Amino acid sequence: MKLIKLNAIDSTNDFLKDMSRNEVVENFTTVVAESQTKGKGQMGSIWNSEQGKNIIMSTLVNDVLKDASDIFHLNVAISLAVIEVLQDLNIPKLSVKWPNDIMSDTKKLAGILIENSFKSDNRIESIVGIGLNVNQKDFILLPKATSLSIVMKKEYDLDDLLNKIVFQIRKNCALIVSGQSELLWKEYHQKMFKIGIPVAFEDVNHNQFMGIIQKVTDEGKLQIIVEDDSIKTFGIKEITMLY
Ligand code: BTN
Repeated sequence: MKLIKLNAIDSTNDFLKDMSRNEVVENFTTVVAESQTKGKGQMGSIWNSEQGKNIIMSTLVNDVLKDASDIFHLNVAISLAVIEVLQDLNIPKLSVKWPNDIMSDTKKLAGILIENSFKSDNRIESIVGIGLNVNQKDFILLPKATSLSIVMKKEYDLDDLLNKIVFQIRKNCALIVSGQSELLWKEYHQKMFKIGIPVAFEDVNHNQFMGIIQKVTDEGKLQIIVEDDSIKTFGIKEITMLY
């Protein structure tokens, strides 16, 4: 695999995006940085990470998604890639909080930001950004964040973890390409945070309600049964889980 190691950068996602705009970049090329000055999170949030302590990486994924309607397949494949690597390290109580936060019990270990662009020749290029908290011990302003070293009380080798994650990303992408996404979806649903149990949610109008997660639809929306037994689906910007 092609690996580019950086000290500090604005965002590894933006770096890789610019690179692929200017030159031909080999599929699964991965950029890793010790720190980011403008780390991007989901929905315009900021991703903070202590220098040199965690995995901050972006991988270019080309020719995996064939159609815009397949986009969430990649979210599923990448979430599971991270989960599978962490499972091998015996990290306890792993789950994926929809759409793709990686949790240990009720705390977030990793975040994923996938940015897709539709090329003129109909190809879809994806920049897969992953922030995995590894050896950082303090998350003072982030009470819902944790790291591998907090959970396991030991330190981890970042290069080793990075290699394992990229390997697993390639493996799961190969499953999509060979038409076996169903296997990934099945495992994703098995690993889903709070699936099948009553949880509180809040919608965009700040209405709070109880619901039970049924599944994630093919388009990546969350399907919930609400109190009057009706089934509702929500996009990522439309609902927050209160937990
Ligand atoms: C989230 O909000 O949960 C997603 C966080 C994604 C952070 C990673 S760190 C590497 C890559 N570069 C970025 O700017 N963001 C992603």
